Amino acid sequence: MCGIVGYIGEQQAAPILLAGLSKLEYRGYDSAGICVRDESTGNVEVVKAKGRLRTLIEKTDDGHSVIGTSGIGHTRWATHGEPSENNAHPHCSDDKNVVLVHNGIIENFQELKEKLVKRGYTFYSETDTEVAVKLIDYYYKKTESPLTSIATAMLHIRGSYAFGVMFKDCPNKIFAARKDSPLIIGKSEHGTLIGSDVPAILDQTRNVYYIDNMEIAELTKDEIHFFNMDEDEIEKEVVQIKWDAEAAEKGGYEHFMLKEIHEQPRAVQDTIGAYVKDNAVDFSEIGLKDEELANIERVYIVGCGSAYHVAMAAKYVLEDMTQVPVEIDIASEFRYRNPILVKNSLVVIISQSGETADSLAALRLAKEKGVAVLGVVNVVGSSIARESDHTLYTYAGPEISVATTKAYSTQLIAMYLFAMRLAQVKGLLSEEDCAKMIAELNELPAKIQKILDDKERIQWFASKYANAKDMFFLGRGLDYAISLEGSLKMKEISYIHSEAYAAGELKHGTISLIEDNTLVVGVLTQSNLYEKTISNMVEVKSRGAYLMGLTTYGNYGIEDTADFSVYVPKTDPHFATSLAIIPLQLLGYYVSVAKGLDVDKPRNLAKSVTVE
Ligand code: F6R
Repeated sequence: MCGIVGYIGEQQAAPILLAGLSKLEYRGYDSAGICVRDESTGNVEVVKAKGRLRTLIEKTDDGHSVIGTSGIGHTRWATHGEPSENNAHPHCSDDKNVVLVHNGIIENFQELKEKLVKRGYTFYSETDTEVAVKLIDYYYKKTESPLTSIATAMLHIRGSYAFGVMFKDCPNKIFAARKDSPLIIGKSEHGTLIGSDVPAILDQTRNVYYIDNMEIAELTKDEIHFFNMDEDEIEKEVVQIKWDAEAAEKGGYEHFMLKEIHEQPRAVQDTIGAYVKDNAVDFSEIGLKDEELANIERVYIVGCGSAYHVAMAAKYVLEDMTQVPVEIDIASEFRYRNPILVKNSLVVIISQSGETADSLAALRLAKEKGVAVLGVVNVVGSSIARESDHTLYTYAGPEISVATTKAYSTQLIAMYLFAMRLAQVKGLLSEEDCAKMIAELNELPAKIQKILDDKERIQWFASKYANAKDMFFLGRGLDYAISLEGSLKMKEISYIHSEAYAAGELKHGTISLIEDNTLVVGVLTQSNLYEKTISNMVEVKSRGAYLMGLTTYGNYGIEDTADFSVYVPKTDPHFATSLAIIPLQLLGYYVSVAKGLDVDKPRNLAKSVTVE
């Protein structure tokens, strides 16, 4: 996600801010900016640049041309509005008094914006962040207290955020606040700092304070005070950071993949939050109108690799919920098979990068044939996002590890939401049932967290099977889609030959490959198919297979068949993929680690496949 650095002290701020931002480059970004105040003159300067941080560094002569000893800086990874200088942070109130940088997503920004517009505010950017700065400005004008204005704004904002804030009227201070987005406060010999991540301030200090949700920090050059929402001061203990610089970049995780696996509760929450308003799915912001949805008679979903696996899971969910026929295709097949696209249909292109050559070609083909395209894309402003008629952004944040995890999980959420809205428009899902599904969706982040908290069992099992030559993943229906993704995770990073089969298909040939101790993973989240898949597991067990069973809590009878069982929490069966995939991501990850492989950069693979 985006990065934040802040500094107030005795030294020139801009070089410290830029050095801190450069340590956050690994997180991915598309623009950057700083705001510095000259405490002697009260002058405040904002400098921004689109693209690489290098441009900002050159624009400011390594920061030397920006005079002042306090400031805030930001690297932006676009979520609301394209990557541009105008949308880059810091953002300012109209009178330039309040300046703010923000990480996270403000879910109710549209609603807040409308209220501010009624009070005479105008907006120059497409960002949710500008709404936050203007909301603080609004309360500041009423209360003349920086602390009260930040606290009041926080009570009105829904979503996740970490803020760095400065007030021109309030020299010698910077402020920080957070909810569900990381932020730390540091104390060095010559000043105090804020950082969205340890590497941002590690060059300056190892002494940090952790600011909790719904707390505000007030920093001067030699003091830090913390406050709760009632503006009562809170005492905090300083903590010594012991990480080396490389570990710090990965947030203390050994690999980006493990970090990204652990970011899934947040990524899923943000994606739900972006499209659920007042207990209903709302696509008005992306211009996907109910009248358009009502006319859809067929859906084609196209993607590559994991995105195609999302397409398969979505097919099961969509057909079951909406009764609309769904065809799915691998993009490189779709583009060359001259597909027959019926009238009143919609083509959905799923892509994390938004630049995958085959997926982009599939999009262009659909448009040539006169069919509307919905892009489900993670990277804002990417080709697929720009060329789609409508774009449902996923809010995974930048994904660095080549093997996708959090982007896949957010794509699933986007497709569930699409299915729910389509079902409602088609009159097949009542408001009440939709609200129940939303309640289930909202429980997914905590349930994913619960699976992550139990990861040691998978780690142990992975170390046992790290030397396997072949693996098979079996499932029916949605469990087949999960198996395909679990198998891909395994083969791409562990280099173990692995295949996923629709469980009933194995006996038509592939079962001859089962030998003594071949690992077979059975996925059984769908209660109507449970007995059928158990029978298939028994078939392979009697041919010597070693069985891992992956099912939901309560199905303890699986232990009569499986040699090793993994349970995930129960959810609405349509959403089971979101939970069952987590242990399989962990399994692939830990096998790769046990084999000592380069987890984040597996051989022969690229993060964004821009060639056919
Ligand atoms: C697998 C993986 C790939 C991508 C595929 C599509 O872990 O990451 O299979 O899913 O290359 O990429 P995007 O989603 O960028 O179009």
